[in-house]
Amino acid sequence: MITLKGISKSYGPVSAVRNVDLAVPEGSIYGIIGKSGAGKSTLLRIMSLLEPPDQGEVHYGGERVDTLAGRELLARRRRMGMIFQNFNLLGSRNVTGNIAYPLEIAGLHKKQIQERVEELLELVDIRDKRKARLRELSGGQKQRVAIARALAANPEVLFCDEATSALDPQTTRSILSLVRDLRDKLNLTVVLITHQMAVIRAICGEVAVMEGGRVVERGTVTAVFDHPETAAAKELIHVQ
Ligand SMILES: Nc1ncnc2c1ncn2[C@@H]1O[C@H](COP(=O)(O)OP(=O)(O)O)[C@@H](O)[C@H]1O
Ligand SMILES: [Mg+2]
Repeated sequence: MITLKGISKSYGPVSAVRNVDLAVPEGSIYGIIGKSGAGKSTLLRIMSLLEPPDQGEVHYGGERVDTLAGRELLARRRRMGMIFQNFNLLGSRNVTGNIAYPLEIAGLHKKQIQERVEELLELVDIRDKRKARLRELSGGQKQRVAIARALAANPEVLFCDEATSALDPQTTRSILSLVRDLRDKLNLTVVLITHQMAVIRAICGEVAVMEGGRVVERGTVTAVFDHPETAAAKELIHVQ
């Protein structure tokens, strides 16, 4: 469903992503793993159309999308949701206000927004926190709010950038299990980047290993974990 062809991106002298080809099947939970600085976040920003590549193409279901601009780009981006390690929530708004935010931007009526927020609170299982301030929430609850907000506009793809890296192991498991349930329930395609091997093992079907801006190894999680071929993959597997 998502295809990257020959993607490269530099920041001044730094080659962040080098000639990456990638195919993410529809409905999969696709992992991208690599050490800090490997180029994972840059690749995700290009895939989610937050940044254009210097070279290469991004295709969604056969349609080239990296060349979209203006309203077409906005419309395409509305079909994607994104969550991050630091949640990126609005501290001035309570739980409901955060989840409602993208719906307000999209211009929905108050009644529609209320109904959709209730559905989303239920979906991520935090209905009892609807009026809570963010500072009253645990990290796991904040990530649930962020997931609800990311899913507000019914996206087809959910991008997760180190979404569990600030959470303890038990909370990580509950968020990963939520992501898997949501994928099943909503037919999402999930692209998940992390430096944590355990996260990939827990939830992903396929994985790509990045090092120095390149994808150096890829395959099913079982194949890559049981028989890592590159030094980069071996190192990531053995440190955990
Ligand atoms: N906006 C930017 N400006 C300058 N350098 C950047 C920027 N984004 C990333 N980089 C550099 O590109 C490389 C890859 O970074 P990044 O994609 O964030 O890696 P990862 O997410 O795997 O840690 C790093 O050397 C980083 O310093
Ligand atoms: Mg990163």
